[in-house]
Amino acid sequence: MGSFEEVVKLATNRGFVFNASSIYGGLRSSYDYGPLGTLLKRNISEMWWTSVVTKHNNIYPIDTAVIQSAEVWRASGHLSEFSDPLVECNYCNKRYKQDSMEEIICDTPECKEKDISFSEPKEFNLMFETYMGPVKENGNEVYLRPETAQGIYINFSNVLRTTRTKIPFGIANIGKSFRNEITPGQFIFRTREFEQMELEFFCSESDEEKWFDYWVKERLEWYSTLGINKENLRLRKHEDEELAHYAKSTTDIEYKYPWGWGELEGISNRGTFDLDAHMKSSGEDLTYFSDENEEKITPSVIEPAGGLTRTLFAILLDAYSKEEVNGETRTILKINKYLSPIQVAILPLSKKDSLIEIAEEINSNLISHYSTEIDLTQSIGKRYRRQDEIGTPYCLTIDFDSLEDNMVTIRDRDTMAQERVAISNILEVLKEKYNS
Ligand code: GAP
Repeated sequence: MGSFEEVVKLATNRGFVFNASSIYGGLRSSYDYGPLGTLLKRNISEMWWTSVVTKHNNIYPIDTAVIQSAEVWRASGHLSEFSDPLVECNYCNKRYKQDSMEEIICDTPECKEKDISFSEPKEFNLMFETYMGPVKENGNEVYLRPETAQGIYINFSNVLRTTRTKIPFGIANIGKSFRNEITPGQFIFRTREFEQMELEFFCSESDEEKWFDYWVKERLEWYSTLGINKENLRLRKHEDEELAHYAKSTTDIEYKYPWGWGELEGISNRGTFDLDAHMKSSGEDLTYFSDENEEKITPSVIEPAGGLTRTLFAILLDAYSKEEVNGETRTILKINKYLSPIQVAILPLSKKDSLIEIAEEINSNLISHYSTEIDLTQSIGKRYRRQDEIGTPYCLTIDFDSLEDNMVTIRDRDTMAQERVAISNILEVLKEKYNS
């Protein structure tokens, strides 16, 4: 596992994550994902998709709007409840979240000179407000969604009608959410714009506990299949006073970040809270006809709600490792080979046309199967170092012997073992390695 500083440095230097607006000095706590970060993020969301949507024939995908009617947030309780207690320094007016007072850094000379004192806590709503249309006036306010979940509830009857499905079934949504966090920080752990992967699973009230347990187990296992070490993962049940306004019970999946345990995903039993709230507020019928009970019921909801960008950070931290090789330190991102942004690097030993031609031919044979990169810059040692750091599982080196024997060397990231393989056989060899 890497330290916070090591991983942030690698992520920035190698093109996983850049501070947003960096040419203008950077926007605090806003991040852009570079070429490798974009690929990694996509691979994580695809693994989520496969595990949640593809592998369950009763889970339907949806992709809902960021901006919805303000009524959605009134009904869901976000307008009245989705807030954090905020305190303000009486000298420098810096604002802090009351429950994270340990993060307080009031360091202006006036604050240092005086005994720091703070205002009484005020509730600060975390939703970003904007206006729909050209006129900025009361009544035109809309909000950037603070969770993708509500897009699912408000489409419950649309999905039910168009899929003709029966409970238990789920609806899955991936996308950006926005929260005007008072104290964002720890790199991409807590940001104001982030991506979520959420599932709302509708079932009968009598099956709530069964499905809650199923999803806790399923989701915890998923983080292990991503390659995260089991000892760095744990489950934590919320105490009653900690529960969100909508939850009957919640269990978090936590990761052991360098600063301590932190949430990766929350699995909540939301009961009938949201469907009831939208039914009451919209006047629409969001019930379900239960053949079993021969009556209309409001289904209960089990919600596994994960953070895509937060998971990406946990993966980088967990995969970062260093080892001594011949008196030098080798940094390796021991990332799951299905998640690696580059799966096969093709490295011609020199920039000679004859070697580049072979590289291009190999690349065109692999490109529809694996994510590949031809790297021509610097010495072969430095190129291996770079590929190790970005987590490339296999490098194919083309040397002058390749011109004679039509073979290349395949190098394994983790063991550094090298073997010669026939160019005509590369795809089979890689497939075998990928499946083993
Ligand atoms: N629909 C329920 C819900 O949104 P949540 O626990 O507030 O629950 C779910 O959020 C997940 O979204 C979290 O476990 C976390 O991974 C991610 N998340 C929440 N706020 C975040 C933030 N400010 N920055 C990055 N990720 C965040």
